[in-house]
Parts: sequence; structure tokens; C-alpha cells
Amino acid sequence: MKTFAYAKLNLALDILGREPDGYHNLRMIMQSVDLADEIDVEITRDGRFSFSSEQLSLPTDERNLAVKAAMLFLKNTGFGASIRILKRIPVGAGMGGGSADAAAVLRALNAMTGWPMSAGQLCRLGMLVGSDVPFCLVNGTALAEHRGEKLTSLPSLPDCPILICKPAFSISTPALFQRADQRKSRLKPDIHGMVEALQKGDILELSRRMYNVFEDVLDRTQQEIFTIKSLFTDLGAVGTVMTGTGSAVFGLFEEEDPARAAFHFLSSQYRECYLTRPSPATPVQPLRNG
Ligand code: C5P
Repeated sequence: MKTFAYAKLNLALDILGREPDGYHNLRMIMQSVDLADEIDVEITRDGRFSFSSEQLSLPTDERNLAVKAAMLFLKNTGFGASIRILKRIPVGAGMGGGSADAAAVLRALNAMTGWPMSAGQLCRLGMLVGSDVPFCLVNGTALAEHRGEKLTSLPSLPDCPILICKPAFSISTPALFQRADQRKSRLKPDIHGMVEALQKGDILELSRRMYNVFEDVLDRTQQEIFTIKSLFTDLGAVGTVMTGTGSAVFGLFEEEDPARAAFHFLSSQYRECYLTRPSPATPVQPLRNG
């Protein structure tokens, strides 16, 4: 089965507190985009497992979230699997690339083995792999709360160009959470206002409220994030924000032409630029008539 793993962006990210287990209580608006890894999944009856990718730097063991997800799903089934991934989502960008691969593998394995798991069971299994996996199972536009597993689907972001730019450095997720524990963010995203803007289909209202509290705790070596945000604004983006724990930054545009012009300009400065659009929700269960 050939399947696609869509990148996610955080239109908003707020930290509400820290749980006793060390994880953080979050509130985020998540959006999937049409930048996707391409995944081939084959079921093997001999119980053997193999993973390959043209990107040789990807781990082939359980450090790779797609492998971890497949192992968990296939445990006790007697089946094995052969998984091949063509990577397009940048790594270490805050775009959920690894989680998207894991979710796509879980969706594919569930479909190929006759849907043994419900959407809820798949979501719980996904949580064992990573906090972004439940959203990546469903995609589209959603409010994600708690660790990221409490999902409420939202009206879709109206179709618009979304330009993404990743600086050469990546940011460590646990380290940035630790900084956020030490230094509270002064600003908070207006998530309620953003949900209302989505209900009205108003991109301008939404864009001006986008915010990620991690931006407030970036250190001196990560200031290029703000340079890229200023470039986005100068180039006509109606809103710009860092996604997840970075380091990718994105901008929403109302029109195609300025977005294309911005893409060409930024591509001359940064190697990793992507012009994308919102992508819709993916079915986790078989579509039934009636
Ligand atoms: O769940 P996942 O493996 O994607 O999380 C990566 C890291 O991000 C965790 O080890 C933790 O440091 C941090 N994290 C957190 N609170 C969350 C999600 C992630 O502290 N809700």
C-alpha cells in the first residue's frame, strides 16, 4: 500500500502547565499541509521486518517513529512488514515529520489487516509513539489539548498559500520545554479568537492572532527565527509564526502571486523552503455508505 504522511504546522501553541509526569499540558491549533513523505507498506507473513529509505541518515530501528509504530501494531499478530519512506518533510523542523510517518504506517497497517483497531485504539497506540501522532492520524484542522491527544476537529483553514522556511539549525524539543519551564512566556495566543476566525473563514482575523509561546524563550543563537518572521511580513504574509519547537517558521498568504515571489526570494537565502497549502482530514476508519 502506498500512503502519504502529511506535515503539520502549529497555528497556535500555548503551554498551560506541567504535569507530574514531566509532560506539559498544551493547547494548540494544528493544521496539516500538503507537504508529505511517501510511504510504501507491505505486510509479510514470515514475521520479518525491514525498513529502508533513500535518506540514509534516518535510523532503521525503533528510534525511527515509523518503525516503533509498526512494531507496536504488529506485536502478537505474527505478521511482519516492509516499510519504505521517501522523505520530503524536513527533519528537526517542528513539522511532525516522524509522527506523521508513524501515523501513516498505523493507518496503512490497520487498513491492510482488516481494521482490527478502532480510531480510539489507534490514537492510544499512537500516543505510545509520540505526542503528535494522534493529530497526524486524523489531519485537517484541529484543536489539540493536554499532551496533544485530546482532539476536537475545527472548521478547515480556508485554502491559502502557506510558505515554510527552515533555518539551517534545529532546536532540541526537550531543551526548549525546559527553557519554557524556567521562563514564562509574556504573550499568549488568543486561541478562542482563532477558533471564531476559523468559524467565520476569516484568514486575516486568524493570522493576526497566531502565536507560539516557545518564541518567547528562544536563546541568542536562535534569533534567526525572528529574522525569517520579519522577512515573511515584508514579503506580504498576513501572519507568521514558528511551528512547534521549531526551527521552521511559516507564513500565511492571501494570494498566490506574493507567496510565489516570497518563495523565490527566500529560496535564494535558505535551502529548505516549501510552498504548500492546507490539506484536509484523512479518514482513519473505512468510509461506509449510508
Ligand atoms: O511525546 P514526544 O516524544 O513527541 O515528546 C518529545 C518531548 O517533548 C518529550 O520528551 C518532552 O520533553 C516534550 N513534551 C512535553 N509535553 C508534551 C509533549 C512533549 O514536555 N505535551
